[in-house]
Amino acid sequence: MAVVLDARDLNKRFGAVTAANGVSAAIEQDSVVGLIGTNGAGKTTFINMITGYIKPDTGSIHFRGRDITALAPREITRVGICRSFQIPQLYASLSVFENMMVSLGVVLRNAGLGGFFSRGRPNVPGYDAPAEEVAERILERFGLGDYRDKNAQVLPGGVRKLLDIALTMAAKPSILLLDEPTSGVSAEEKFGMMEMVMAAVKAEGATVLFVEHDMEVVSRFAERVLAFYDGRIIADAAPEIALTDPEVKRYVVGGELHRMDEQKGAANA
Ligand SMILES: Nc1ncnc2c1ncn2[C@@H]1O[C@H](COP(=O)(O)OP(=O)(O)O)[C@@H](O)[C@H]1O
Ligand SMILES: [Mg+2]
Repeated sequence: MAVVLDARDLNKRFGAVTAANGVSAAIEQDSVVGLIGTNGAGKTTFINMITGYIKPDTGSIHFRGRDITALAPREITRVGICRSFQIPQLYASLSVFENMMVSLGVVLRNAGLGGFFSRGRPNVPGYDAPAEEVAERILERFGLGDYRDKNAQVLPGGVRKLLDIALTMAAKPSILLLDEPTSGVSAEEKFGMMEMVMAAVKAEGATVLFVEHDMEVVSRFAERVLAFYDGRIIADAAPEIALTDPEVKRYVVGGELHRMDEQKGAANA
């Protein structure tokens, strides 16, 4: 399989904190990679460096052989690396459909094809229909059709997250980075939501990196796991290998169980 994204020896310090300490990973095209690690391990920093929001102090990032380390976030989005955030970035006062139209408008504008709500055939590679139709299609694919005319601010948590990811997919990314897509989503909803996302991603053909704290979700959906601890990748392997690695069990899985107990405690308090 071809390497689509190649992070080489990334280092990043914030004052006394080393958020990335020699992080290297070569990501294969169309793979699904789970990023695990307790809070502060360096997962979001890794995503921020790939997407250009943070520049590594040293090291490089290549996308399909091109050095993108110095590119601005907007330029990185344009080459096809897109992300969702831990907290969904939605227009609260707009409907689900309007949010999708704005996202498509931004995609079109980035492609130099006019601004928001532009009509007619978008002429963006892969978009063969008017923007309204494309918007409907993406919403249906993510199971959001029933919410089409609802305001974003009244959506349940899981639906907000799903919409945020659907908006990210509007840009037809070749790499999709999801930072804690299921955070705040109930245990019962998580699997269905990830099934939906993964099916959409497979249909569109994208490489996915997702940050996830629930190891059941990780083992179900990730083909490969990168385990972060203290700014380093301590394991890089298939889930069945990575999740049973003694260091990972000690520093990641153990920490997550503790974290889940705390959350349950907080919920019961
Ligand atoms: N912009 C920043 N400024 C200062 N410290 C940061 C910044 N981003 C991350 N850090 C620190 O870097 C470490 C790694 O953080 P982060 O990558 O967010 O971890 P994770 O996503 O795994 O929880 C933490 O100690 C965090 O406090
Ligand atoms: Mg994070």
